Amino acid sequence: MSLFPQRRLRRLRKSERIRKILSESKVLPEDIMFPIFVWEGQTEEIKNFPDQVRWNIEDKKLYLFLEELVKRGLSSIIVFGVAQENQKDEIGSYGWKNDNVVQKFIKRVKREFPELAIAADVCLCTWRKDGHCGVVKNGEILNDESLELLGKIALSCAEAGADLVAPSDMMDGRVKFIREKLDENGFKNTLIMSYSVKYASALYGPFREAAHSAPSFGDRSSYQMNPPQSREAILEAQLDFEEGADILMVKPALFYLDIIKSLKEKFLLPIAAFNVSGEYTMIKLGIKSEIFDERKIINEALISIKRAGADIIITYFAPEFFGVNVKKFFD
Ligand code: PBG
Ligand code: ZN
Repeated sequence: MSLFPQRRLRRLRKSERIRKILSESKVLPEDIMFPIFVWEGQTEEIKNFPDQVRWNIEDKKLYLFLEELVKRGLSSIIVFGVAQENQKDEIGSYGWKNDNVVQKFIKRVKREFPELAIAADVCLCTWRKDGHCGVVKNGEILNDESLELLGKIALSCAEAGADLVAPSDMMDGRVKFIREKLDENGFKNTLIMSYSVKYASALYGPFREAAHSAPSFGDRSSYQMNPPQSREAILEAQLDFEEGADILMVKPALFYLDIIKSLKEKFLLPIAAFNVSGEYTMIKLGIKSEIFDERKIINEALISIKRAGADIIITYFAPEFFGVNVKKFFD
């Protein structure tokens, strides 16, 4: 029998007041990065990706939507360009074409929302007819041949004014290549947020619908990581660290919280986590079916990512987080 009075942990949870002041992790507005799909086609809803929109870059509503988000505290976005059919070719050259859709959008956002941090996804898949993230020859995805092209896309985003470039291709050595390319061209201060640990996940389906970037043959498992691997994640992150990455990203997030946690413990760089399209859609459909309480499930999902150690949470739930309804700007 203890001499001490009984330790009652339930005192820590006894009221909203107490729970609030004791909560260890908080998702702050600055933690949220919102992915936006832009193209030169019509603004339209995306099939199997509820409440997400492929925006035409001239659409006034896109800027009204962004204005509302920024007013309520959004501080960063990540831009995904989407190719129209006639902008795709065998190599992906639209990706670095001067004044392409991504460049135009970044320039306009810089002008209209100078306080917003802009990241640009760097990859080949949407711009290539075969939908792969690297150069393809005889059905094989070639590593070193892809670097030059990725470097050109990264540079074109930096030239347009992107604060961060985010290579998502998973080729070996691309962080070093892009860092050198940016430095040589006077973009020493453009950050690289590397998709360091990107798994070959079944959770990217809605995104590929959005970006028209599904591979036309095979899959991405020869370049993206195999889900059972966890120590390899440390190696991927270590290489990106050595090659000069500024921010290390883990993707997906919710199925890979263990990986976020281990990167946070082993590296002193900021960690980003990508709460991907499939994770979002699962939860969203549950909300729409009235299985989940919207506010509670979104808060719980985001706090789990924060608790695991993410400094940046890339999430399609940004509008819900900031209390903005996209339907007011689209329909
Ligand atoms: C393209 C890319 C993908 C995502 C981000 N960049 C898809 C893929 O690798 O096929 C996925 C994002 C999401 O599902 O939300 N390289
Ligand atoms: Zn890709």
